[in-house]
Amino acid sequence: MLTRRKILKTLGLSAAALAAGLRWPTSAHAQTSTVPLHEGNPLRIPPLLEGIQEGAEKRFELLLQQGETEFFTGVKTPTLGINGSFLGPTLRFSRDDLVRFQVTNQIGEPSTLHWHGLHVPARSDGGPHQTIEHNGRWEPLIRIMQPAGTFWYHSHMMHKTGEQVYRGLAGMMILDDDTSRSLSLPSEYGVDDIPVIIQDRRFKKDGTLDYMSQYDDMVQGMQGDIKMVNGAVDPYFVPTSTKARLRILNASNSRKYMLAFSDHRPFQVIASDGGLLTAPVTMDMVMLATGERVEIIADFSDGQPVTLVNVPMVTSYQDSPGAMSRIMRAMGSEGFDILRFYPVADLRVSAPVPETLTTIKRRTAEEAVKTRTFRLQMGTGSRGGGDRGPTTGYRNGFGGGHGGGDYYINGRQMVMDFINERVTLGDTEIWEIFNSSPMPHPFHIHSGQFQILDRDGIAPPPHELGFKDTVLVKGRETVRVIISFTDFSDEHHPYMYHCHMLEHEDRGMMGQFLVV
Ligand code: C2O
Ligand code: CU
Ligand code: CU
Repeated sequence: MLTRRKILKTLGLSAAALAAGLRWPTSAHAQTSTVPLHEGNPLRIPPLLEGIQEGAEKRFELLLQQGETEFFTGVKTPTLGINGSFLGPTLRFSRDDLVRFQVTNQIGEPSTLHWHGLHVPARSDGGPHQTIEHNGRWEPLIRIMQPAGTFWYHSHMMHKTGEQVYRGLAGMMILDDDTSRSLSLPSEYGVDDIPVIIQDRRFKKDGTLDYMSQYDDMVQGMQGDIKMVNGAVDPYFVPTSTKARLRILNASNSRKYMLAFSDHRPFQVIASDGGLLTAPVTMDMVMLATGERVEIIADFSDGQPVTLVNVPMVTSYQDSPGAMSRIMRAMGSEGFDILRFYPVADLRVSAPVPETLTTIKRRTAEEAVKTRTFRLQMGTGSRGGGDRGPTTGYRNGFGGGHGGGDYYINGRQMVMDFINERVTLGDTEIWEIFNSSPMPHPFHIHSGQFQILDRDGIAPPPHELGFKDTVLVKGRETVRVIISFTDFSDEHHPYMYHCHMLEHEDRGMMGQFLVV
């Protein structure tokens, strides 16, 4: 058995956390246990909420609440959750369902709840305009109109999305349809169909969450030294079948992960943000930026313990004076464990993964009636720095003398009462996203799913040929996506597009569009 010090070292637990005496719950190490001892904490599986059918509607009661969570033994951390103290239940529903979300806010301040990736009317989207006051209630009715996939919900409060998600306002949604049900894929929730919500946090000595206390947080977004899955620190899972489907959601505020297994074993990617790929794609490493999802089939048939890890990336960023070079060179350079697997001895044999999954009609650039361009811009340090072009003069309270970053799209920061783009209902458009900064930004568009046409003119790799709602745009890269605006028009309620690094979003890298 590893010593505690070694575990701490393996995990890179911060000196601050050590000094604060933060410990993991000890239950997993109980000496009376008859199961083999596993290091760490059992993976917590979020409860499944499948809704209550009432007439034509399927109702989901969701309470945004304050709570305390024991991430470390004996240390109670104040947190936010949905129907619980930290994070929320996994909501499961089917295509064609008429879903009624009944959201009550009791967190002591205004909030919102956004259905990331769902194709819903703008007024039901849960963006910054659908604010729910403390003790308020919001009950959008949504017809589920899209293919099966893994989605998520989270706070989208103006200027506070980062903080509220960090404290715990997020959860997973699973959408099934006839296609997904007809395939012999692992689908027993919590048994061989596993939610894997990856997040990182930083703690203060008193055990409370540490948010945005350092200069770098303002540049690279909030990143923490403590990694967790479904709210469990140092987690492990015990597979009972030869294959498991991992629904991996990067719900971190800003950190992106290069995911792989510790022994480099291959896995099969079966779905991207918007649902199933046409066929499984065998890979041994996959990048997941914040907001993105990927479903993979992991193979445990050799019965050996294995760990899902973050692979450290070698930086090619130029070594020069200044914060940007330092931050860019450090970004992603650290390897760490995310989730350990200890398969049981007598694994149930899973069905082979189907060779084809679904059909996707690939869109071509010729189908688009219009191209819009979006230039992602960041300025660090002084007001004069960075590439931002003309601004609206708007300051969200963090700009200038604060010394932190300012973030823009096409020279503007998000303002609630300014509509950046107007789109015509029924149109198919190309959105060309150019990242003028050296830092990668995951670009997310509300209203529905898109397809990636190309990255710097080159067609995307096979696992990016499916539906997406968030795409990582690397430094100086241009990504073209193609998107259709269907079903819902609204003169008054806009959708958002933004960088999904939540601190960038909160600091202005967001805009609004109407579909009319
Ligand atoms: Cu995940 Cu605008 O949201
Ligand atoms: Cu969204
Ligand atoms: Cu960003």
